[in-house]
Amino acid sequence: MDGHQVTEGLDLSRLQAVDGTDGEVHINELGLENLADEHRILVIALHGLGLFGSVERDLLIGEESEVLEWVRMAPKARHAKSKARLNAYDKLLNEDVKEKEETLQIFIPNGPRLGNNVIEARNVRKAFGDKLLFDDLNFNLPPNGIVGVIGPNGAGKTTLFRLIMGLDKPDSGDFKVGETVKVGYIDQQHTVIDPEKSVWEVVSEGNEQIMMGGRLINSRAYLSRFNFSGTEQNKKAGVLSGGERNRLHLALTLKSEANVLLLDEPTNDIDVNTLRALEEGLENFAGCAVVISHDRWFLDRICTHILAFEGDSQVYFFEGSYTEYEENKKMRLGNVTPKRIRYKKITVI
Ligand SMILES: Nc1ncnc2c1ncn2[C@@H]1O[C@H](COP(=O)(O)OP(=O)(O)O)[C@@H](O)[C@H]1O
Ligand SMILES: [Mg+2]
Repeated sequence: MDGHQVTEGLDLSRLQAVDGTDGEVHINELGLENLADEHRILVIALHGLGLFGSVERDLLIGEESEVLEWVRMAPKARHAKSKARLNAYDKLLNEDVKEKEETLQIFIPNGPRLGNNVIEARNVRKAFGDKLLFDDLNFNLPPNGIVGVIGPNGAGKTTLFRLIMGLDKPDSGDFKVGETVKVGYIDQQHTVIDPEKSVWEVVSEGNEQIMMGGRLINSRAYLSRFNFSGTEQNKKAGVLSGGERNRLHLALTLKSEANVLLLDEPTNDIDVNTLRALEEGLENFAGCAVVISHDRWFLDRICTHILAFEGDSQVYFFEGSYTEYEENKKMRLGNVTPKRIRYKKITVI
C-alpha cells in the first residue's frame, strides 16, 4: 500500500490539520513516529477529515483491516451497506444466537420481534423555563435502524430520551410507541444503580450464571467482555471512573433483551477495544438503536439515520450516514462553523 493508494478516494481538499498546523506536528505530538510512512500519510489525511482518533487506534493495535477497508469503501458502497441493514431485520433476527454469542466480544441479545411501528415522535415540544429545546420534533424510528443523535451539550438530547421513557412530559405533542416495543435504557443519573454494590453484583444480582438470549452465561465472563478484570468487578459502583461507569451502563443495558436501545453517550471515555466491540455488537444487533454520541467516526460506521440538534431549537431527522448528513446540512445551511448551543426565543402566547 503506498501513500497514493491509501488516500485515493478521500476528499483531500478538506485535508487540513487542526489548529492550522501542518499535520506533522500532531503526528509527533501523538508519538506516531514509529508508524510506517504509508500509515503516517493515511493518519495525516484522516486527521484532516476528522477521522483521526479511531484510525490511529486501529493502526496501533494492529487490527487495521476492517476499519481501513471501510475508509477505502466508496461512499456509494457505504450507503448500500446501511440500506442493506434496514432491509435485513428478519434475517438478522433469525441469525444463530449461539454463534454470535461465541464470536462477538459484545453480543447484544435481541428482544421480541418489532412491528413496523417502533417509536414515532409527533409534533413534540419541550421547554424548560425560557429555554425552548424543540417545538416541532418529528421522527419515525425504523425497526432495524441505528439512529445517531448529535448536537452540542445542553441541546436537549438526554431530555429526548427522558421524554420517550416517560420520565419527563412533553409540553405538547406525543410519542406513539409500538405494542411490541421493549426499551433498554439506563438513566444517565444512574438512579437504578446502588453505589454500595460491586460492579459484579449490579450486573449479576448475585448470580454466577445469567440468562441472556435464551442461554445461560457466566456473569463474570460477561463483565470481562466489557473490559472489567476480576478485581475491577469487585469495585463499588459508587467509586467508578467515567469510563468504567459507562461500561457498566452498557453491560446493564445490553443484557436487557430489549428491541429498542437508547444509549446516552456510551462512547465517552471508553477504551478503544470496548468501543470497537460495541460497534460490532450494534452492527449485529437485530433491533433499533438510538445512540447519542460525539464520536463522528463511530457514528459514521454504524448509523442508518441521524437525528441532529442543529441549534435554534431545530431538530433534523435524516436517513443516511453521518457523512451524508454533513453534506446535506452544508447544502441546506451553508458552511456553518460549530458554535455553542443557542435556543430560539420563546414567544409567549
Ligand atoms: N429538569 C430540568 N429542569 C430545568 N432545566 C433542565 C432540566 N433538565 C434539563 N434541563 C436543561 O435543558 C437543557 C437540555 O438538557 P439535556 O437534555 O441534558 O441536554 P444534552 O443531553 O443535549 O446535553 C440544558 O440546558 C439543561 O440544563
Ligand atoms: Mg446529555
